[in-house]
Amino acid sequence: SSHAKFFVGGNWKCNGSVASVRTLVDELNAGSVPKGVEVVCSPPYIYIDYVMQHLDAQKFALAAQNCWISGNGAFTGEVSAEQLADFGVPWVILGHSERRALCGETNEVVGKKSSHALAAGLGVIACVGETLEQRNGGAMWTVLDAQMKALVDEIKDWSKVVVAYEPVWAIGTGVVATPEQAQEVHARLRAFCAKHLGAAVADKLRIIYGGSVNDANCAELALQEDIDGFLVGGASLKGPAFIKICQSGA
Ligand code: G3P
Repeated sequence: SSHAKFFVGGNWKCNGSVASVRTLVDELNAGSVPKGVEVVCSPPYIYIDYVMQHLDAQKFALAAQNCWISGNGAFTGEVSAEQLADFGVPWVILGHSERRALCGETNEVVGKKSSHALAAGLGVIACVGETLEQRNGGAMWTVLDAQMKALVDEIKDWSKVVVAYEPVWAIGTGVVATPEQAQEVHARLRAFCAKHLGAAVADKLRIIYGGSVNDANCAELALQEDIDGFLVGGASLKGPAFIKICQSGA
């Protein structure tokens, strides 16, 4: 992890209630985040206003979990990148494997959403990752290259992009990738970027790992050369555990 400021995202997914969000915000505010670590929290849309008003902005920024592919208009049920920017939400997670699998988001859609969100002024946490079937069947690099290629094809300015490697088999399973497994993929993703975008961009790019990261396994992962942070699901719902994960990047 030597490429840029360590980056930790807490993806709350579709979890929480008014009461639990209040507790989590209080727990997070009570924790200390190292200066050298950038942290974003990603609540469900309905809680973003509350979290924005109550979470300590000195320590935590906000991310949405998704946004629409184009600007405002007749898109019932959607929220645009322009609205997020207008509201003061600086980041958006795009292409999470749950949205790919459950909402049919293709590589092309994720690429287009990413370039649109960047044009609207947001930072983008773009997610990639293979399934266990793809890994075991030898399709892993093809799948990851195609996911990355769709991003490379659409994104011009990479300065506000963070790539999250989230192997699907590690998400919410308790089966974390080993440091060696994660490092292998991160190095390969960086090499892919170096080839297509140049060494300078690849070197600065933060590639973060997601999938069953917790306060016990984060330290070893954070030591890996090409792991520049984490995208945390389950453990981001527990304030003290999430704070420990943030501290592992110091
Ligand atoms: O986006 C983060 C996520 O998919 C990882 O989830 O619960 O395995 O940390 P979890």
